Amino acid sequence: MISKLSDNITVMSHQQSSNIYYLDFAKKILIDTGHYLDRDEILSDFANAGINIGAIDYLLVTHAHVDHVGNCAYMQQHNPNMHIVVSDSHDYFLNHLNEFNAVEGIDSIAEPYQTDMVVSDGDRICITDTDYIECIMTPGHTTDGISFWLPTQQLLFSGDTIYSGVVPQLDIYQSLPLALRLLTESYQRLQALPIRMICPGHGSPIENVGDNWTMLSRKLRKFAQSPDLTIINNFIPTVEHYINDHPGVTKQNIIDYFAVKYRELLDKGFADFDQPVSAYPVIMNKVLMMMDYLQMVRYDDDGTAHLVREVNHYIKQ
Ligand SMILES: [Fe+2]
Repeated sequence: MISKLSDNITVMSHQQSSNIYYLDFAKKILIDTGHYLDRDEILSDFANAGINIGAIDYLLVTHAHVDHVGNCAYMQQHNPNMHIVVSDSHDYFLNHLNEFNAVEGIDSIAEPYQTDMVVSDGDRICITDTDYIECIMTPGHTTDGISFWLPTQQLLFSGDTIYSGVVPQLDIYQSLPLALRLLTESYQRLQALPIRMICPGHGSPIENVGDNWTMLSRKLRKFAQSPDLTIINNFIPTVEHYINDHPGVTKQNIIDYFAVKYRELLDKGFADFDQPVSAYPVIMNKVLMMMDYLQMVRYDDDGTAHLVREVNHYIKQ
């Protein structure tokens, strides 16, 4: 689907992908590339929107999840002169993505691509004589998160750092309390900006910016008081993906699968959940109860699980 945010900004959304934003200024900018599984539809939308990959000057990467960088390599092959802009944590994040995916339930990673512009907090990319995009490091969802700020239109391109009313999953191979603190600090810094509209990595643009900050801040305070809530928030989209990718699984299959993954992460030392292995059944039970409460999943009499809503509805709502 293609929509216009302004005369020179287009947004495209596809089934398994992040939003892709195209900024048509003197410099041509692409923010994220979507999932490679949606490539045909994405290229079709590019053609319909008049976007020429060969003319793109900068590809800005909000973070290295496959639904955001799944077509970076393809685009680089078709435009070797395009600068790919990433944070200095990008390589670290990619090097640990397999461990992250082990519990994510998402098996795919992006085809490799070469980055040539590592940016730091406050770096600016000039796109006309008077317009620029400021790079703001916003770790929390991932270690390598960047938000991109276009002050002349008061637009913030947040990647998965901000959703509408939903706290994103946090880097789970780090310490969850640390990731929560990083996300909280990222939000505090972004709240200082006079944002008119947030352009998130998934879902529609967020125009009620103040209300959204209020909601997210309240949730973060609750998370800080209850480590369980942070884990539950992380596991819900993960379980959602697992059910989607494994038709016919039962509630017990889900519990058993994530028990193994939980232990693997603890053994690797990647997941400092502040919780011992023995806490897992209680936490998983809360995850499934919350999914029941949110009417995200239903079970047949034999325990077979079915998603009631589309995958990622939890994120998009
Ligand atoms: Fe993400």
